[in-house]
Amino acid sequence: MTDALKFQAKNISRVFGHGKKSVTAVDNVTFEIRDREIISLVGQSGCGKTVLAKMLLRLETPTSGELLFNGKPITATGDPRNHWRQVQAVFQDPFSCFNQFFTIRSQLKSSFRLFETKPSPGEIEERVDQALLAVNIKPKEVEGKYPFELSGGQMQRMLLARIFILKPQVLIADEPTSMVDACSRASILDYLLKLKEELSMTIVFVTHDIGLAYYISDSLYIMHKGKMVDRGAPDDVIKHPTSDVTKQLLEDIPDVHRQWIARGTPVHAAE
Ligand SMILES: Nc1ncnc2c1ncn2[C@@H]1O[C@H](COP(=O)(O)OP(=O)(O)OP(=O)(O)O)[C@@H](O)[C@H]1O
Ligand SMILES: [Mg+2]
Repeated sequence: MTDALKFQAKNISRVFGHGKKSVTAVDNVTFEIRDREIISLVGQSGCGKTVLAKMLLRLETPTSGELLFNGKPITATGDPRNHWRQVQAVFQDPFSCFNQFFTIRSQLKSSFRLFETKPSPGEIEERVDQALLAVNIKPKEVEGKYPFELSGGQMQRMLLARIFILKPQVLIADEPTSMVDACSRASILDYLLKLKEELSMTIVFVTHDIGLAYYISDSLYIMHKGKMVDRGAPDDVIKHPTSDVTKQLLEDIPDVHRQWIARGTPVHAAE
């Protein structure tokens, strides 16, 4: 059923440069992302995860192949801002996503610029408060603060607060846990699950760590040198890996995530 598909990628590639110096970042991949599923793209550094994620965001254009969003070519919405209303991202470095010269709160408020109809100033304040509370931050904690006054983990939660404001159909989360400790990492994953449950979001989770991906996703895609070398339900991929790359990734799983897999839930630091 095509209407249950958010994205369909048919033989898409992204090549940078020309001739001998060209780099094929994404190499002829075909996949589908269903409505309300969490998929994880897993693979070592440089395998093409971010480039693929950027194509889903319309920040990169495939050099060949076809990419559909909600059954139509991804460019069908015309102005990319129409696409960004529906597909949002949380990137590796939260500091690069916020301007250092404006307060956090003013930047959260400016997220409403993407809305077709802007709510009243009072409603904007209220929705910013709700979004902060949704990621366990008391609005007073960040009142008048600038990005450099917060920790990396708090900033990552600010990015998630933006997502609670924008409520996109799809969230692309590119290593959103890279700057936080194990306890906060587990809670960020829980926020992603909350976004899926409460806002019926489709989530694309990008990571090096197959253990994290296993915990959170409905489908796993393992990438290597731009190609997808293994895919399927997390249990199948973990228990019956078909490629050496997947086997290597499984060997590299940190112990704490091995425990998650064994228990089916994250180990919180307080335990
Ligand atoms: N704008 C660009 N111009 C040229 N090459 C690029 C560009 N962006 C990415 N690449 C190359 O494409 C390949 C895939 O990069 P990508 O950023 O997708 O890797 P990744 O899997 O996200 O890695 P990491 O886990 O380190 O974030 C790399 O070889 C990278 O150097
Ligand atoms: Mg990357």
